[in-house]
Amino acid sequence: MTSNQTARFLGSLRAVRHFSDRPIADDVLRDILEVGRRTGSSKNTQPWEIVVVRDAVTLTRLSELGGFAGYVATAQADIVLVMDSANNGFDCGRLAERLMLAAWAHGVGSCIASLFPDDNARRAKELLGIPAARWVRQTVALGYPADEKATRVAAVPRMTGVVPIGRKPLSEIVSWERYGKRS
Ligand SMILES: Cc1cc2nc3c(=O)[nH]c(=O)nc-3n(C[C@H](O)[C@H](O)[C@H](O)COP(=O)(O)O)c2cc1C
Repeated sequence: MTSNQTARFLGSLRAVRHFSDRPIADDVLRDILEVGRRTGSSKNTQPWEIVVVRDAVTLTRLSELGGFAGYVATAQADIVLVMDSANNGFDCGRLAERLMLAAWAHGVGSCIASLFPDDNARRAKELLGIPAARWVRQTVALGYPADEKATRVAAVPRMTGVVPIGRKPLSEIVSWERYGKRS
């Protein structure tokens, strides 16, 4: 891959919530986890563990524990990010993005599914035997995209309304040298 192709690949990551029933091979899943393991963290504390859920009944239970997590029921796996504490949100985000990019490199789609409110996060911990003191909020649902539209459809099953798609242009978000200096 050229550097331009790599940059385009990185920019092509989208949320996928419509999955096919094609299984994810064990070696692909392990490779995704291996890339995740290498994520950098504050002071290299690596404040995470991961619970990989593939059991269909458990996936359905997890899908009920987030406001917008219905699609987890149809995922091939849900990677539950178990953080040491609520202060590790930034590390959690880095880990999630790495897992998603590694999955995408294998053609596997993904979407973050948040467990909330707090009561639901607590229920998820009970369901998976995660110690109460750990912080669990984000999971990454994985599966091959159902079809070519899957990366362009933002409607979340069971959610009223649609998640907006598209991104702000650089001209709206980047300042040069000083905040607000747009060029
Ligand atoms: C912190 C965080 C929490 C998210 N939680 C959910 C969620 O619970 N359910 C969901 O469908 N998408 C969730 N998403 C995915 C966002 O909706 C998605 O990143 C955004 O809509 C952009 O999607 P796109 O890359 O396909 O344009 C979450 C994303 C982040 C960063």
